[in-house]
Amino acid sequence: MTERSESDREADVSAGDMAPEDFRRHAHEVADWMADYLATVGDLPVFPDLEPGAIRDLLPEEPPDEGEPMDRVLSDFRDVVVPGLTHWNHPRFFGYFAITASGPGILGEMLTAALNVNAMVWRSSPVATELEEHTTDWLRRLLGLPPEFDGVINDTASSSTLCALAAARAVAWPDAHERGLFGCVPGRVYASDQAHSSVEKAVLTLGLGRSGFGAIPSDREFRMDADALAEAIRVDLEAGVRPVAIVATLGTTSSASMDPVAEIAQVASEFGVWLHVDAAYGGAAAIVPELAPLFDGWQGADSIVVNPHKWLFTPIDCSVLYCRRPADLVAAFSIVPEYLKSSEQASARSLMDYGVSLGRRFRALKLWFVLRHFGRGGLVAAIREHVRLARVLAGWVEQADDWALVAPVHLATIAVRFDPGWAPDAEDRANRRIIERVNRSGEAFLTHTVLAGRTVIRVSIGNLKTTHADVARVWASLRGAADIVRAEGETP
Ligand SMILES: Cc1ncc(COP(=O)(O)O)c(C=O)c1O
Repeated sequence: MTERSESDREADVSAGDMAPEDFRRHAHEVADWMADYLATVGDLPVFPDLEPGAIRDLLPEEPPDEGEPMDRVLSDFRDVVVPGLTHWNHPRFFGYFAITASGPGILGEMLTAALNVNAMVWRSSPVATELEEHTTDWLRRLLGLPPEFDGVINDTASSSTLCALAAARAVAWPDAHERGLFGCVPGRVYASDQAHSSVEKAVLTLGLGRSGFGAIPSDREFRMDADALAEAIRVDLEAGVRPVAIVATLGTTSSASMDPVAEIAQVASEFGVWLHVDAAYGGAAAIVPELAPLFDGWQGADSIVVNPHKWLFTPIDCSVLYCRRPADLVAAFSIVPEYLKSSEQASARSLMDYGVSLGRRFRALKLWFVLRHFGRGGLVAAIREHVRLARVLAGWVEQADDWALVAPVHLATIAVRFDPGWAPDAEDRANRRIIERVNRSGEAFLTHTVLAGRTVIRVSIGNLKTTHADVARVWASLRGAADIVRAEGETP
């Protein structure tokens, strides 16, 4: 091949895409950057010490009129983007739910971008459809779910829950598909007061209104009260309100509590109501034999969501929705216009029929890479270690004066509280000040929640790089910040 000049390449740029040799050079550079990043991210501050607007101030107001060299773009990536990151792939990221974009997952994601296929129907890329069927079936086997559960991959649990509840709505009002909900009796979806906001958002999106969400009280361990659920359904039936679905959560957002799903499944079956299980975070733990009993009863669900992008080391986004009767999803969503018809549509799945989106990313590729790279053994070992580290930290908290563990530890996310015996409001503020201090230090990243009316600090362990030393460091940071806050007093 003859050497091509820089100007030839510039011509390529103006006529079309980046020249292949330039792509190769930059791709190698980017791959090297990524490998270095993954090896050293633990040395960076987890959270950038910036004020809102600081990043936009660095960017030109107008878009470029002329194309810019990629070297300059990549240099700005390093100088503008990286310093503005909260590093989710950092071993001391303990906020929200800690996650990992693992090596194999990143490789899958890179290839997905290059392939750029759209998994709408089988022929729009046969392997995208079939690998999605196959990887979700592998995951089902790993989770110990029965074969009738059929999986599709969505972007997020919010979408998965929306789709599941849309199917439940279509089952609850079979003729609403034709007529809409106008003139129908009101309906209700029940979930505990600890359920994720995505459930209520789905209820609103599906036109059931705010009153279409029934919050069921939870007990002292933040688990849904199944008797209260049954009673709420009885009262609604007497009042002419139609129960549409129950959502049980396995791994709630605030405390990682586990709803009593077997009891809830019994209530669902007694009243003939759709049971959706939100195991977006917790579901991955069902792979670990000694944790599987926490999931007893979820086999009775009509639909289940598990997010590999939460605790299964797959880069965002990847959420698997399992449905016992996938035909219910298809009934809720399928519309096949002429331009999407194909000769194999009776014999092959059209993924577009299982949700809102027509265009769908080839997300199965990265999940396939992850499942193959780690295997069952690797996944079990990693999740087991996270749970062990969470218990170690919980033990330190329990032994410390002025600190309290606020919820039982089932998984790898714990809720703790600095508890110096001040007035409740002052203590709540103190816990927020501690989080702010730790985050601003760059040492670790934490987020808060409110449990039983009190502000608490969540520590979520879910990154593959997190070690005992990292957990010891966040505990030292928490105690150090608490010492300063205590010295500042109740109202600094
Ligand atoms: C229990 C639970 N369900 C659902 C969600 C929503 O997940 P996603 O961001 O994938 O929509 C979350 C998010 O953290 C969650 O904690």
